[in-house]
Amino acid sequence: MKFRFPIIIIDEDYRSENTSGLGIRALAQAIEAEGFEVVGVTSYGDLSQFAQQQSRASAFILSIDDEEFTADEGLDPIVLSLRNFIGEVRRKNTEVPIYVHGETKTSRHLPNDILRELHGFIHMFEDTPEFVAKHIIREAKSYLESVQPPFFKALLDYAEDGSYSWHCPGHSGGVAFLKSPVGQMYHQFYGENMLRADVCNAVEELGQLLDHNGAIGESERNAARIFNADHCFFVTNGTSTSNKMVWHHTVAPDDVVVVDRNCHKSILHSIIMTGAVPVFMKPTRNHFGIIGPIPQSEFEPEAIQAKIRANPLLKGVDAAKVKPRVLTLTQSTYDGVLYNTETIKAMLDGYVDNLHFDEAWLPHAAFHPFYGSYHAMGKKRVRPKHSVTYATQSIHKLLAGISQARIRRPPSSTATCSTRPT
Ligand SMILES: Cc1ncc(COP(=O)(O)O)c(C=O)c1O
Repeated sequence: MKFRFPIIIIDEDYRSENTSGLGIRALAQAIEAEGFEVVGVTSYGDLSQFAQQQSRASAFILSIDDEEFTADEGLDPIVLSLRNFIGEVRRKNTEVPIYVHGETKTSRHLPNDILRELHGFIHMFEDTPEFVAKHIIREAKSYLESVQPPFFKALLDYAEDGSYSWHCPGHSGGVAFLKSPVGQMYHQFYGENMLRADVCNAVEELGQLLDHNGAIGESERNAARIFNADHCFFVTNGTSTSNKMVWHHTVAPDDVVVVDRNCHKSILHSIIMTGAVPVFMKPTRNHFGIIGPIPQSEFEPEAIQAKIRANPLLKGVDAAKVKPRVLTLTQSTYDGVLYNTETIKAMLDGYVDNLHFDEAWLPHAAFHPFYGSYHAMGKKRVRPKHSVTYATQSIHKLLAGISQARIRRPPSSTATCSTRPT
């Protein structure tokens, strides 16, 4: 598929009839002759607007000439605006190629902190525009290749092959919709790519959700890296199913489990399906009606043991000896109540085998320092020594994942991540 990622040229002389203007337009023409789109503008304009541009640019060429410099080197306005611009782009994008185009002596005016961020300095009039264009296009293409994560890349390659779809779903890449007027509308509304991408789990080129191999496996390992987990598994059908997977994997009939009294119903389903015996931790509720938090004292092993002793369904169980199989905590309630996960891990490590944080509403926490240790898996955390940590997250809630409805292949509605004890 041909994507629209223009090379953006910023040069105040872009439309001028001077040598600088002629030079940069010759380069722009050479780039266009190679089939790449060019957008030429004459000023940096509003920096925040340009920060948006970085996501649709395949490269930036910032052109300056010597006459733009004033005598006072350190505070030169052109250097300052160049620095601000590059800083703004790099804040969000460390990879997009940025070139400065100028006279050879111009490079001497540029401080190291600017030069360091550049892919190159293009010496005006030293090489032919055709040669420079080829070089920039090569870098722009390799940048565009590098931004594709493993699964999306495999999906693009698959679509590129123009393979016929003989597997489910029965609309066969959208062909079924072409046979009726309303189907045509549906096809035009979603667009061919969306329908071609709705393919079966059995398409080998894309890997296997169940075997965690191929592009899916690669993508899961990439997600584990991003979400600071040892393992990450993509799951269709939301955190509801992810929660059940954690439980089916860890809990057997008659196991003692510790559960947030206000847990999601998928945890109640898990209790029913596994046949576990729950003891509940009780959240507080304030006079505004806001639920939570569960007081820290409820997490003390002695407090949990007292609940086990008091539970009529656990009559024959020795509270001092039994180790609960799992603790499930709603990590971010609907009201935004969060727990310090490190405190909970430290209190229960070795007493509860599996610590499960239901982070359905918290997948974004890994991406902002604000959340600190108020989410289960962060960078450079000390691991529990004995207990396994699980986090289940709805990528389709507070991240930009596509909802679960029938689009199976864009791999995740939900990620289930785990970290092993040391
Ligand atoms: C705490 C909690 N866990 C799990 C879920 C289920 O999430 P999903 O819709 O991804 O199945 C929800 C849904 O609102 C939730 O609030």
